[in-house]
Amino acid sequence: MEYGNHNFSNLQSDQPLIHGIDFKHPEDICISAMKGYVKIFTYGCQMNDLDSLKMCSLLAQDGWRETQSLKKADIIILNTCSVRQKAYEKVLSNLGRLRPYKRRKPSLVIAVTGCVAQQEGADLIERMPHVDMVLGTHQLHRLTELVHEILIRRSPVIDTSFSEEIPSLDLVPGKEFIRPAHRAYTNIMQGCDNYCSYCIVPYVRGREISRDYQHIIEEVRKYASSGVKEIFLLGQNVNSYRGGRTFPDLLRMINDIDGIERIRFTTSHPKDMSDDLISCFASLDKLCDHIHLPFQSGSNPVLKAMNRNYTRETYLGLIEKLRAAGPGIAFSADVMVGFPGETHRDFEDTLDLMERVRFDLLFSFKYSPRPGTRSAGFIDDIPEQEKLSRLRQLQDMQKRICADIGSKRIGRVYDVLVDARSSRHEDQVFGRTTHNAIVNFSGDPSLIGSTVTVEITRANPNSLTGEQIGAMR
Ligand code: 5AD
Ligand code: SF4
Repeated sequence: MEYGNHNFSNLQSDQPLIHGIDFKHPEDICISAMKGYVKIFTYGCQMNDLDSLKMCSLLAQDGWRETQSLKKADIIILNTCSVRQKAYEKVLSNLGRLRPYKRRKPSLVIAVTGCVAQQEGADLIERMPHVDMVLGTHQLHRLTELVHEILIRRSPVIDTSFSEEIPSLDLVPGKEFIRPAHRAYTNIMQGCDNYCSYCIVPYVRGREISRDYQHIIEEVRKYASSGVKEIFLLGQNVNSYRGGRTFPDLLRMINDIDGIERIRFTTSHPKDMSDDLISCFASLDKLCDHIHLPFQSGSNPVLKAMNRNYTRETYLGLIEKLRAAGPGIAFSADVMVGFPGETHRDFEDTLDLMERVRFDLLFSFKYSPRPGTRSAGFIDDIPEQEKLSRLRQLQDMQKRICADIGSKRIGRVYDVLVDARSSRHEDQVFGRTTHNAIVNFSGDPSLIGSTVTVEITRANPNSLTGEQIGAMR
């Protein structure tokens, strides 16, 4: 998963957002008259990125256009994340900054969606009276209906109810929203039943709900026929998918779809890594040689207190099995430092696990207590300074590992699916290897969307540089 927050800007500023959801033909869609402008801010993970695309698509069908200008916006949406305290605070501070915009334009609709909306509900409007809409994680499909309600009634609306089904899982953004056009993200499930003691996700995304496999297959087939080559399956816990087929069965079905060349998924839980799933890395030619497998800590007592349901030995055993199934497979993961009670010895165990696995990419965080979770009741006893120092030590070590892995790739040749023009060098493009490594090389934008072979010539801190040696296909 990618963390951090960013503006939602898959479209050029002020481009009309036409076409609706579910691949209807433009002529079939009754596009409402232009109603105004919308600005969406997206925080957090890829799930939120996809939810923002869906909201954009829904609003476009209802006659709203995206703008990057806050002044011009008639609707401002903050699609939020509350997984860590810092993310949550950022949302609240950015919401506060919107007050003057509302003062200047009282008709402005300010909506909060995603995990902070789910967590706060009506309290958010009490604290921030300039907010008009609080829309929970199961109710995204109601967005346009609720915008209308606000515009008519001029009073705030809140819907943070959980339901048995999540209709928005089945919403598919119009193909104009798929950027780059060769990669599409697809929800296969939402929510989590694991209740790791530090994690707010089960409370804000709800229990696991899987999407029917037939809907997923139908969506992927449509994507394939419209030129998508890479499918990225998304969910908080994809490897416990139960939508009428097992997750490995779903992968096998997608692997059989003509036109799809690459399959990726995130996020997986180590306790749900079945042998069947591991064998997919050996048997499915389209499944990329990369897995994101958060380990959180390398210490058994900490893993136990986190309620992770595996030990460092079982995690290392999984890595070994995955390496046997897919030699050359790349690993990425999430890890946390400073969990309550984490001793120096525990922390050393985390570093030791990193040294044994040698992750290509690691997302590392300082623990922060989240309201309502079990660990919020534990004493947050590791001082902030100590958390920071452990985080720095861990990140320094990871930098060394990354440099080493990168340098070993020099001279090797990889298939690179070209994503876009480089923003730094006019004459360069970049794409990704099967390991999800970013490769920059001199090339024409006409290569975007095709796969070329590239020889690696240099390893940079976060990417590789190479030279194209093979034709596009
Ligand atoms: N404090 C710090 N990091 C957390 N994460 C989840 N909850 C917390 C928390 N309370 C991290 C985990 C998870 C990632 C999405 O965020 O590493 O995998
Ligand atoms: Fe949170 Fe654990 Fe579920 Fe991941 S598996 S979303 S860390 S509760």
